[in-house]
Amino acid sequence: MNKPLDIDKVQASGQVTDASLRNEPLPPPLPPTPLLERCHNIADLREAAKKRLPRCVFEFFDRGSEDEFSLRGNREAFQKLKLRNKVMVDVSKRDPSTMLFGKPLSFPLVIAPTGVAGVCWYNGEVELARAAAKAGVPFTLATPSVTSIEQIAAVEGGRKFFQLYMWRERELSHALVKRARDAGFEALMLTADTAVPPIREYNRRNGFSMPFVPNFTALLDMSLHPSWLASVMGRYYMNGGLPQLAHFPKDKAGSGGVAQPQKSVVPNFRGDNLTWDDIRRLRDIWKGPLLLKGVHLAEDAARAVQEGCDGIIISNHGGRNLDTAVASLDVLPEITAEVGGKTTIIVDSGVRRGGDIVKALALGANVVLSGRPTLYGTSVAGEAGAAHALRILKNEFETVMGFTGCQKVGDIGEKTIWREK
Ligand SMILES: Cc1cc2nc3c(=O)[nH]c(=O)nc-3n(C[C@H](O)[C@H](O)[C@H](O)COP(=O)(O)O)c2cc1C
Repeated sequence: MNKPLDIDKVQASGQVTDASLRNEPLPPPLPPTPLLERCHNIADLREAAKKRLPRCVFEFFDRGSEDEFSLRGNREAFQKLKLRNKVMVDVSKRDPSTMLFGKPLSFPLVIAPTGVAGVCWYNGEVELARAAAKAGVPFTLATPSVTSIEQIAAVEGGRKFFQLYMWRERELSHALVKRARDAGFEALMLTADTAVPPIREYNRRNGFSMPFVPNFTALLDMSLHPSWLASVMGRYYMNGGLPQLAHFPKDKAGSGGVAQPQKSVVPNFRGDNLTWDDIRRLRDIWKGPLLLKGVHLAEDAARAVQEGCDGIIISNHGGRNLDTAVASLDVLPEITAEVGGKTTIIVDSGVRRGGDIVKALALGANVVLSGRPTLYGTSVAGEAGAAHALRILKNEFETVMGFTGCQKVGDIGEKTIWREK
């Protein structure tokens, strides 16, 4: 295993290798591998990920909760909304970049927090963070990640956000926030839509749990995917042991599992007593941008602004929590009417095409979060795969900007779309 870089020693020796410390631009994103070259869109990446991953891991990433109405509804909401051509505009110099919290993004997308992303590829969360940094979009580390805050902070360059699940044990959650702050993370995303553990029966059937305590089905499943088994689990095993939840205290992290629908990831850690008081307490610890994730009601959005949040994320958790929850896109107009211009509006759940980003922006979002697309990419080829997913989405976004006559992101608006009245 590579030894971590002691940056002080390297600096003292005059051989600073971190480009960001030398104020140099990061290298370009990794080019596609031959397999990636055959993946022309996110759906192709999904298919490739399905082949590479054991079923238990793929379904954990890919599926929703209960009857998966929300999962399907997310795509239907995007399909329902139509785009309009805008003609006779010079779009030869389209600019997909935008600003978020006073800093540039290469296009209006942030990588969503996706817990346990490190099991799709060896060091998958680091690979994903590297791809995001080189592509010029922020990466969000999830509380239930297998990579620690400090390991992600060591990834060269890029903007890093931290997602927080607030446990009943407030002091433990606040300690994580302080670690993220001290490690230089830029924004804090408080997830509020997971008051109770979601029901995902397939995890139980598949025997998927974290930490890994695979049942016979899961063992068989994994043994049928020897390349994943060797290159992911084998490498973890050789380099210190199977992946663990990095932010859960060791003595408690052993007793739970994402496979158990009526329990939280770790049973002793519940987040069912989160209230607005917590925002006030967080504001004392966290001075950077604070975002509330999982908002569906205009009144909650307004209250978040009033309580000092810098942004809201309209989300149904990618259809993974409350089944039949409304699609984010369907409540976006009323939330924009309430808080548009007063706060940063972020939307997620179901973005699979660059045109989806245009639609979200047309209805008032500033940026979108994207979860599964880069997970599929990372599952197929680590950093190169995540880079490929981002390249696909950005290229599609620029293409739709061209068709809809938008020279810059600010040109995307109500006129860009058509809705049935
Ligand atoms: C495998 C997986 C794990 C996730 N883990 C978290 C998490 O730990 N915290 C969180 O706030 N959201 C989590 N999410 C939800 C995402 O942040 C995001 O809301 C969702 O993926 C967006 O939908 P999309 O996948 O269709 O882009 C997870 C999503 C996936 C797919």
